[in-house]
Amino acid sequence: MTAVPPAAESLDTGTPHPARVYDWFLGGTDHYTADAELGRQLVALDASTKYCAQHNRWFMQRATRHLAGAVGIRQFLDLGSGIPTEPNLHRIAQGIAPEARVVYVDNDPIVLAHAGPLMAGTAEGASTFLQADVREPDRILELASTVLDFDRPVALSLVALLHFVSDEDGAREIVDRLVDALAPGSHLVLSQMAGDWIPERTDRAVEMHKAGGVTLVPRSRARVERLFEHFDLLEPGLVWPPDWRPELGVGEVRDEGTPVPLYAGVGRKR
Ligand SMILES: C[S@@+](CC[C@H](N)C(=O)[O-])C[C@H]1O[C@@H](n2cnc3c(N)ncnc32)[C@H](O)[C@@H]1O
Repeated sequence: MTAVPPAAESLDTGTPHPARVYDWFLGGTDHYTADAELGRQLVALDASTKYCAQHNRWFMQRATRHLAGAVGIRQFLDLGSGIPTEPNLHRIAQGIAPEARVVYVDNDPIVLAHAGPLMAGTAEGASTFLQADVREPDRILELASTVLDFDRPVALSLVALLHFVSDEDGAREIVDRLVDALAPGSHLVLSQMAGDWIPERTDRAVEMHKAGGVTLVPRSRARVERLFEHFDLLEPGLVWPPDWRPELGVGEVRDEGTPVPLYAGVGRKR
């Protein structure tokens, strides 16, 4: 599994892409005018959008720290990994357990173009990047199995990914297929934009994404809970990202007055 730079023509810079808009939210430099434009529209709609993106990222980092540390997970499959933003998942996992093995997956060619830091793992472990679409779960599982042993526990991360996958594209079936491949004791780390928080604003965000050619699918708490059907949710359950174990000390404590309307949780497969 080797990362190769994308062909120049595969980088469509004229329309927004989730990885680059997220990079704009996080204050990165790997985005284009169209991405910044959609980002600005979303911030005009809800001034806390950048704050939410940052808290989502911190959630991923805290969940990884907990799983690599207290739980002892040594294998990670991170789908929709995004443009590298330090500390990336493998940096946290391998900082605790140098032998940890990590596979990153994203379908945006710009992530592949910047995948270098994602491939720089420890000598004892592995960290690799695979350009693939989550809508091809069988291909992802097959390729990832050259690095990960699916007979042993794996932490599967679907962090701020599924709200870019529609029901028509089989979001639920994709999760089922991936979960089916996981051994008992594996963990699911998931965050997803809430669909039942100020619906008028959410509808407007969906329209703005649609105008830029991006599918956005907010989902209700009940729908997100169902994705954990085969898992026991770790404490504190399904919460907004900053409320997931803030005591782990990664990121800032939430300002109580500012909502972060994504559902975030970590579950252990039964
Ligand atoms: C908001 S970013 C989240 C990045 C990272 N998981 C995090 O939470 O910090 C969403 C990522 O999902 C990726 N993505 C969206 N649809 C995808 C698909 N169908 N297959 C693979 N990746 C996808 C985007 O390219 C982007 O990098």
